[in-house]
Amino acid sequence: MSNLISLLGLQWGDEGKGKVVDHLAKDLKAAVRYQGGHNAGHTLIIGGDKVVFHLLPSAICHQEIKCYLGRGVVVSLDALFKEIEDAKKYLGEIEERLIVSRACSLIQSYHIKLDQLREKSPISTTIGTTGRGIGTAYEDKVGRKSIRVQDLYTETRLKDKLEENLDFYNFIFTNYLEDKKEDINQVLDRNLQQAEILRPYVGNVIADIHDHVSKQEKILFEGAQGALLDVSLGTYPFVTSSNSSIGGIAPGVGIDPRMIDYSLGIAKAYTTRVGEGPFPTELDDSVGEHIAHVGGEVGATTGRPRRCGWLDAVLLSHTVKLNGIDGICLTKIDVLDGLDEIKICTDYEGSSLSELLETMLIEGVNPSYISMPGWEKPCAGIREYEALDDRAKSYIEKIETLCGAPIVMISTGPRREDTIVRQYPL
Ligand code: GDP
Ligand code: IMO
Ligand code: MG
Repeated sequence: MSNLISLLGLQWGDEGKGKVVDHLAKDLKAAVRYQGGHNAGHTLIIGGDKVVFHLLPSAICHQEIKCYLGRGVVVSLDALFKEIEDAKKYLGEIEERLIVSRACSLIQSYHIKLDQLREKSPISTTIGTTGRGIGTAYEDKVGRKSIRVQDLYTETRLKDKLEENLDFYNFIFTNYLEDKKEDINQVLDRNLQQAEILRPYVGNVIADIHDHVSKQEKILFEGAQGALLDVSLGTYPFVTSSNSSIGGIAPGVGIDPRMIDYSLGIAKAYTTRVGEGPFPTELDDSVGEHIAHVGGEVGATTGRPRRCGWLDAVLLSHTVKLNGIDGICLTKIDVLDGLDEIKICTDYEGSSLSELLETMLIEGVNPSYISMPGWEKPCAGIREYEALDDRAKSYIEKIETLCGAPIVMISTGPRREDTIVRQYPL
């Protein structure tokens, strides 16, 4: 039995994490976001309606669960308040069960502006960010000048920090990016107003989580993005700016890393990516278009089309290894229904894999594939492993062998019930 469970994406995000959280949530007492911000888009189908969470833990949609934003999350208060208002429409009041750490760094208007201006600038590398100020806010965190939640409640400190920050940002905006200055008084007033709206949600995440632990309650650490977007371990520089791997949990929440009992990895039965960056198994043909169409592969945050390709077992086995994955939930297998042939990348020809995986500079590698026959009987909506077509089972079991971790759950559709459980992770 596991009490502290990590759930994270093993590819480039959008693996179906939100749906899997929703499936597991009935057995949880608490859920915690520990990194990222409102760049995430986690989709759940609740009573036939599609709901997308960006900043709130997806488990919030279950009434009994306490939800936390740990110190590793970068918080846009505009985004948070909008999401709280939207959530209240179908969840009722959530004030009692949403706690934001006093130590979270805030995303300010100037972070969003710089992120967007830099993406458009011909002299910066275009990453294809979500334009939400995520990278720029983390730059200030690492640069030791973030405005944190607690700073909102000491006006002199808030003003001093804003002055220091705007001195730098306004220089960049006017001298470097030919844009307008941000007005210190406007930014300060907005922060002070938002401080009061935020006040009832502010709390002590470390103390609360340790309290859940002492009561032996089940806590889920909800990863955003995916392991290949990790700023340290991913396809740098085409990554997000946080540690989206399991290592982000301890500093992003405030727990002993050895307390995590079970690491659940979420992987799509194929691969997708949004934004720029290398993607060895990307399909630029009608099969890729078919997968994108059937899988509805459109970004849940930005509405951008997702690039699609075959499952890359070289990268998947690597992220399984680096994240201590105890079990995989394989999602969207139904999207491959109807294909005659399905491929899995098992090697990059003529390359030293260990060298490539050290730097993750995988642009231009030459993937080699094994080919498997498609299946006749659709997987869509199936809830028992035995009921799957034998060829679908062979595909699943091949992935297990290649990746070195058991596939404990299989998602066969977007609704929480469309799930096969072979070995329950909680
Ligand atoms: P996340 O960011 O990992 O939470 O994933 P997203 O919500 O961005 O994208 C996953 C998409 O796939 C959403 O539209 C889900 O509703 C959908 N989805 C999740 N699991 C399945 C599945 O097993 N089959 C199908 N067809 N769709 C799924
Ligand atoms: P979820 O949690 C997929 C990608 C962006 C871009 C790169 C950097 O829904 O899986 P950023 O705005 O973070 O600085 O952008 O990371 N990206 C995601 N891709 N799913 C996500 O989240 C993502 N969050 C960021 O597209 O390539
Ligand atoms: Mg998503």
